[in-house]
Amino acid sequence: MSSLVPVVTIDGPGGSGKGTIARLLAAKLGWNLLDSGAIYRLAAMAAMERGIDPVDTPDLIECCEQLNVVFQQDEAGNEQIFLDDEDVSLLLRDEATGEAASKIAVIPAVRAALLARQRQFCQPPGLVADGRDMGTVVFPEASCKIFLTASLQERAKRRHKQLKAQGNGISIDALFRDMAKRDERDANREVSPLRPAADAFTVDCSTLSIDEVLSSVLEIVQQQVAL
Ligand code: C5P
Repeated sequence: MSSLVPVVTIDGPGGSGKGTIARLLAAKLGWNLLDSGAIYRLAAMAAMERGIDPVDTPDLIECCEQLNVVFQQDEAGNEQIFLDDEDVSLLLRDEATGEAASKIAVIPAVRAALLARQRQFCQPPGLVADGRDMGTVVFPEASCKIFLTASLQERAKRRHKQLKAQGNGISIDALFRDMAKRDERDANREVSPLRPAADAFTVDCSTLSIDEVLSSVLEIVQQQVAL
């Protein structure tokens, strides 16, 4: 990681909108984007495909270290993610994949195995990194750290709308329960728990539109980073 490359970290719980905001901010600044949740999801998918138990085994660690993934954009600018040459862009966003990712994410050796891969995204002219521990562990020296939060009710509502648009019929009650369980696991794990860095700016977006969140975040970035 080069300390000359400016990094903005956006951490927060699932459904807080950090992925959307990180993507919009990276596009606006013309910077690279790291969706670290996708890395954990890909690791979980690779492990499932190889029939590896999501427990702390050398096989799981080797699978994380050897992840064969490619992030690219199609001609229309849509993100495409390949795992072992297979386009998994849609499958990756499944709730089941998120659940599996959150289970392997509690294993310290898995987190260690995925660290270097995440730091490789730090390339000029800058990086916007979104996840749970971007500001606390992966990029502790980041120029600007944001923590996006929203009530669980609001996050479940947003995720439900998103999944419904993708044809997923999960009920909002089931989603609320799953998200609460995942929040609990992310916030209480021993290594890299979900929490704001001491020097992070917290933005509560429960009642804000995407445009409003983006302009709040941009204002903070402009104050903190020499653009
Ligand atoms: O953000 P997303 O829902 O794609 O992340 C899936 C899971 O990966 C999270 O629930 C979390 O357990 C894990 N994760 C993590 N650290 C990150 C990003 C994601 O532990 N930096």
